[in-house]
Amino acid sequence: MDDLLVGKIKADMAYEFARTAPPEGFPAFHDISTERHASRAFHELEQEHLWPRTWVIAGRAEDIPEPGDYFTFGDLGVPLLIVRGTDGAVNCYYNTCQHRGAPVVRDERGSARRLRCQYHSWTYEVDGGTLVSVPDERDFVDLDWEVRCLPRAKCDVYAGFVFVNRDLDAAPLADFIGPLAEMIDPFEAAQMREVYRESRIIPCNWKVTAEAFLEVYHFRHIHSHDGVSVLDNRGAAMGLYPNGHSRMVTPYSKQNVQRLGLDGWDDWKQLDHGSTPTADVSGMVDCTSTAVSIFPNVIIPFGRIGFPINVFWPIDAHTTRLDWIYYGLPAEGTDRFDPDALPEAWESRKRSYDAIMAEDEMNMAPMQTSMESPALRGIPINYQERRIWHLHEQIDRTIGVERIPEHLRMEQVLAPYLEY
Ligand code: FES
Ligand SMILES: [Fe+2]
Repeated sequence: MDDLLVGKIKADMAYEFARTAPPEGFPAFHDISTERHASRAFHELEQEHLWPRTWVIAGRAEDIPEPGDYFTFGDLGVPLLIVRGTDGAVNCYYNTCQHRGAPVVRDERGSARRLRCQYHSWTYEVDGGTLVSVPDERDFVDLDWEVRCLPRAKCDVYAGFVFVNRDLDAAPLADFIGPLAEMIDPFEAAQMREVYRESRIIPCNWKVTAEAFLEVYHFRHIHSHDGVSVLDNRGAAMGLYPNGHSRMVTPYSKQNVQRLGLDGWDDWKQLDHGSTPTADVSGMVDCTSTAVSIFPNVIIPFGRIGFPINVFWPIDAHTTRLDWIYYGLPAEGTDRFDPDALPEAWESRKRSYDAIMAEDEMNMAPMQTSMESPALRGIPINYQERRIWHLHEQIDRTIGVERIPEHLRMEQVLAPYLEY
């Protein structure tokens, strides 16, 4: 994390503390229509035009280290198969046999020299999904082997995460991530390994869950203990990146600064984490809450020795699966964590993170019914909630603004505030 960026964030924070209103000229937001969170019509627009056209995290590269190693991925609503090729590249195919549609592989994870359908043994290469074997070929008249290859989706790896995009015309993953990389690269996440994972089904729209992590306006109201909040939301410094991504760095509260023996909210130094190997990142990460969002459905609150990713998957318009998967740098000499025998430092980190997630979840669950009440005429968004607006703008751009009924559209106003 370069000094220039850290310096800018610190200056932004001082500005945020000092201001008495939104910056001069900042756009006044119109209300967000509650139908964006509640209507079947908007959900269907997302299903048809958002999820099939965006990069999403499907898994981790270290789970398929050798050629032929694969895992399946179904969270985009169509069965996909991610497999390491003989050239080391990670490929994504539709896990649908081009004969009569059986799944090509049935196990969630495995390894195969070739991908052989279990129904009638049509067989495909791990490279290119090329069809290479058809039993009793003589019984097919004019079988065109070329068109019966496994259809592909786009696939690439960043920071150890395997991303897929069903849109073959999508911009490359590196372009999609863009300058957000300045926040993620320093953590050397490719070296990290899964520590543990949790999953919850929550009765609300996926955007309700995502929005809960895009602002800290709620923080002291939901996450205070004995009247003490560890963060001071009034100083939150935010950056909006192209493609709907964003960052938010929130200073510690006075009480927390005192508790940690820091000189002030801006006394950013590396804190001692014992013998655990640490990424070489700014002390800002130890002395603030530093988080990013990857459009559309991932939030990462960073920590020096690791971080969780919070991921939101729509089940239907009113139901979301919220996963959190914690990654960390394994102790020297090991390359994995045993979730059933975590070191005490990780157990305690897990307890505190799961407790925060429970506080957020408790709030999200009852929101949907309440939001759908005719009592809520629209959702007024304030300046410190602008990352929510940014998410919604990008949702519209990805779906295609012209496809969205006018009364549901977001006004596109934040372009002048993006960082490149
Ligand atoms: S469905 Fe796969 S070989 Fe027949
Ligand atoms: Fe929260």
